[in-house]
Amino acid sequence: MINEKLEKAFNDQINKEFYSEYLYLAMKVYFQKLNLKGFVNWFDVQVQEEHAHAMGMLNYLDERGGDCVLEAIDKPVIEGKTIIEVFEQVLKHEEYVTSRINHLADVAEEVKDRAALHLLDWYIKEQVEEEASVNDVLSTLKLIGDDKKALLMYDKDLAARTFNPPVIG
Ligand code: FEO
Repeated sequence: MINEKLEKAFNDQINKEFYSEYLYLAMKVYFQKLNLKGFVNWFDVQVQEEHAHAMGMLNYLDERGGDCVLEAIDKPVIEGKTIIEVFEQVLKHEEYVTSRINHLADVAEEVKDRAALHLLDWYIKEQVEEEASVNDVLSTLKLIGDDKKALLMYDKDLAARTFNPPVIG
């Protein structure tokens, strides 16, 4: 049976992963309006990844005999106006998620739950990749600047991103 404090921390993080899915869905809609299909695809993959992150924790909680309590998901708000600002928000959000996963690992450590720590190792590594992939996009967008032709070429590159269902744990 999972410790109650850890169960609560998992439930909080499950909500944040579903919020991430929802936030990236809103961003997908933003790019649909701009008709930038590669960016739409990039966020489509992001949505599926966040869903997998949430489900990974939800199923884990069940496997450990815990209760998953689904709370309301906040309304996603896109803070920026430009494409770069949208990706700056993505980076800020991912850094926040990293801090929350680290907090979850702190709780698992505190209650000496080695099995949960093993699972969270996967999420910690995943966050390194998540931040790196957003930083990649941001660096390219900074190089592109106001060059619309270059932006359209980059949009084609982003169309190639595919979702590979993660093996969590
Ligand atoms: Fe589930 Fe993007 O972190």
